[in-house]
Parts: sequence; C-alpha cells; structure tokens
Amino acid sequence: MASLTIRKLDEGVKTYLRLRSAKNRRSVEEEVRVILRELIEGREEPLTGSAASTAASPAAVPQRTSALAEAGVTLIASVTLIIGGGIAAYKSLDLIRRLKERRIEVRCVLTKAAQQFVTPLAVSALSHERVYTDLFDPQSEFDAGHIRLARDCDLIVVAPATADLMAKMAGGHADDLASAILLAANRKILIAPAMNPLMWANAATRRNVAQLTRDGVAFIGPNTGEMAEAGEAGTGRMSEAIEIAAAAERLLRPPVPRPLAGKRVLITAGPTHEPIDPVRYIANRSSGKQGFAIAAAAQAAGAEVILVSGPVDLDDPAGVTVRHVESARHMLEQVEAALPVDIAIFAAAVADWRVASEGAQKLKKTSAGMPPLQLVENPDILATISKMKDKRPPLVIGFAAETEHLIDNAKAKLKRKGCDWIVANDVSPATGVMGGDRNTVHLLSKNSEKDGDIAVDSWPVMTKEQVATELVTHIAKSLADKPLEPAS
Ligand SMILES: Cc1cc2nc3c(=O)[nH]c(=O)nc-3n(C[C@H](O)[C@H](O)[C@H](O)COP(=O)(O)O)c2cc1C
Repeated sequence: MASLTIRKLDEGVKTYLRLRSAKNRRSVEEEVRVILRELIEGREEPLTGSAASTAASPAAVPQRTSALAEAGVTLIASVTLIIGGGIAAYKSLDLIRRLKERRIEVRCVLTKAAQQFVTPLAVSALSHERVYTDLFDPQSEFDAGHIRLARDCDLIVVAPATADLMAKMAGGHADDLASAILLAANRKILIAPAMNPLMWANAATRRNVAQLTRDGVAFIGPNTGEMAEAGEAGTGRMSEAIEIAAAAERLLRPPVPRPLAGKRVLITAGPTHEPIDPVRYIANRSSGKQGFAIAAAAQAAGAEVILVSGPVDLDDPAGVTVRHVESARHMLEQVEAALPVDIAIFAAAVADWRVASEGAQKLKKTSAGMPPLQLVENPDILATISKMKDKRPPLVIGFAAETEHLIDNAKAKLKRKGCDWIVANDVSPATGVMGGDRNTVHLLSKNSEKDGDIAVDSWPVMTKEQVATELVTHIAKSLADKPLEPAS
C-alpha cells in the first residue's frame, strides 16, 4: 500500500487541509482519512479547481454550519462581509473578530483589489470559513453560489466600502463577485465607506451616497481624522471595527415593538411654582421623575410625546418635545396648546392654590408683622381636560398622590374629575416616593361594563421606570382591546 507524504502535496491542497483540519479540530492526517472515507461513501466536499485553495468559488458555498456552530456556540446571526480594496481592509480583520465575539458567524468575500491589502489566507484563518473571491468559475454556476452568498445570511456588511464599490452599487453593476452579491441581495446592507476625503467629497460620490441612502442601504461612518496618506486629514476614515460591529448588531436585532406608533401622547410632570413675589414661591416636593419616565417609555413605544414640565432638575428625555413651565396657569396653557392628543397623562403635582395677588416687588419685613397671604384656587387641569366637550383626549389618566385613605380618595378623585384611569400612589413621607426612585402604585380604571364600578389593580414596588413601562404596556393593551377614536 502506497503512503502519502502531506509535505509533498501542492501548496493549495496543503493550505486547504490545514484550515479544514483546524476547523474540525483534527490532525491533518486524520482529516485526510476523513476526506478519503467521505470520498468512498460519496459525500465528499469537492477538492478540485479553486476550491482546493483558501479562496473558494461560489460553487463551494456550503450550507451554514460554521466552526463556531460545530463547537457548540449558539450563533445569533450570520453576516456576509464584503471587503473592498482600500487601505482600511486591515481593519476588517479586526471586524471579523468583533463580529464573532458577538456570536455572529462571518463569511467573507474579497474583491480583487482587496487581495492586494489582505490575503484570503488571513481572512480565512480569522473567520474559520472559506473565503470567496471569484464570480466566474467553470464549475460554479450550477448552483448560483453568488446568490447563496447574498441570501444565506442575515446581513451583508461592506467594509471597507470603496468609492468604486459604492459607485457600482449605486449603478447596479454586477461584474464581479462582490457587486453581483450586492445586486442579488434581499438582505439589509450596511456599508462602512473608507476613502480619501477628496474622493468622499467628490460630487460623484455624493450622488452615489444619496442614491444608496434612497435604496435603503445603511451607512456607518466615515469618521473624520488623520488619513493613511501622509499629511492628509478630513472625512473618509473607515469607522473602527467596534463601531461597525455595534451597527451590525443593531441592524440584526429584531425590531422593537412600537405599540404606540402613530399616537400623540401628552404628559405633565413635576411640581408647579406659584409665585408670591419675584423671588418667593409656593412649591411641593415632586421631582418629576415619574412623569419623565412615562414620557421616555411612551416615546420608546413609538408615540409622539409632548411633555409639559414644571421646574425640575432632570434632563429632557431624548426624542420628546418638552415645554417648560412654572405655574399651574402656565401649565394649563401649554396643555391646551398641545391638544388634540390621543392620550393625556397628568402626572404633575400641580399646586391647588396660588396667592391671590402676586407682589410686584419683593415683600419686605415690616414692623406690622407678616404680610397676609390670601390663597385662591388654581385651575384644575385634569378636570378641565377630562370634561372638555370637543377636544377631550380619548384616554385621560390622572395621578392621585395621597397621604391617607389612598384607594378611597383615588376612587373619589376618578369620579369627581371625570378621567378614565387614576394612578394612585401613597406619598406619605415614610414611603420616600416624593423625590425617590421607587413607587408603589394602584391603577384604578372605570369598569365601563358596570356603570360606576371601579377596578383596582395594585402593582408591586417598582422603580419609576418600571412603573412607566407597565403603564405604557397597560395603555397599549387597552388600545389593542378597544382602539381609540382618533384625536380630533
Ligand atoms: C494603496 C492604495 C490604497 C487605496 N485606498 C483606497 C481607499 O481607501 N478607498 C477607496 O475607495 N479606494 C482606494 N484605492 C483605490 C481602489 O483600490 C480601487 O478603486 C479599486 O478599483 C477598488 O476596487 P474594489 O472596489 O473592487 O475593491 C486604493 C488604491 C491603492 C493603490
């Protein structure tokens, strides 16, 4: 029986054997035995033509069973990474690692120019997968491998995306493997442009960027900074591998449910300050945290949110229109200006009273003793909006902050004010709710089936963010059960 000396095999076959055996965690000799056994059993992978090299033809695109999957690592997604011919191609080697760290399987395609910057061997060794380079191969077209590379993945990433590759994409060219995959793709495409700042600023590139954006291609970068060319700086540096991996991960995440999409939600928050004179005011201990948390949760659920806030020490929530006010009257003005809305949530601790006549100048201490502070009632914002004839929001939710007889007082408030739901919370000092981060609430709602009946749903102690998310979930569920009449 003849013996086989692996050392004497040609380089392409040796490289293939080394990679395949590393992937399968066998010695090269064992791998050869497995290949021969597969050959005899008629289930061998082809080892001919370019498949024998690390740069395989599309014909050899195997079903997705990567080394990571075989090693028992649960993969969350797969990416086809197209590496273009730019100096930043070296960063793509790190990108492969970053994607794999995130349990994303990576299959790489190198353009002809890319192979001038990184070798298929290095890319293959890092991805633990074959690398694809050629569109035309005599044996390839029987199973349209380029179509499989375009579709047998969850996302296509192009990094670096050269000016040339972007022009081809924008123009719909398909004269090499990379551009053919991109044209045949029915997956999301993320591109990380990398080029000289003058190439990036060129009118042709601007047109291509605009066209690709219209076509739904997602971009990451380019960043601004020093370029590889000595003395050159500007916009054109490829984003760092970690930024591209994070962007890919974002695109791979399942879409977040947005149950309040298309709804306009008005929220009030915080205390009001009722002026006594230009320097003094009547206030309360409300921090505004609960109302702000509800605004953020409603925004995350897809709603258009208008937040009318009294004076608070909080940052405006992102993506929310915020109107800052001082007094109850000012708050009512802004609330009315925000109508019509689909849902109104009145979480502000509005002062019940204000001084009858605000001093135009700072009140002075006099020998006559304390100045009399005559109080008058402030407008009742919750009742005013709940009882509106034409612009009443279809769902009005009030808050009842009580220090005693919580449920009874909240039930009475629900009836008196004419709102649909009340969120009741105990704000007696021992609870630490006012200004604190946690809240214990009860959701009271009119049971429309039985007139006058009020359902009480008591929630466990939660953070104010959790209360906000829970409230938004209740709103979304109630919309799903009984859609609102659109706000007029
Ligand atoms: C040293 C060198 C660096 C290059 N760097 C870039 C680059 O960063 N971005 C770019 O768009 N083109 C760059 N090019 C030009 C591309 O390699 C050239 O346009 C090539 O045709 C791109 O091919 P591809 O898009 O198929 O990868 C570079 C060329 C050379 C010689």
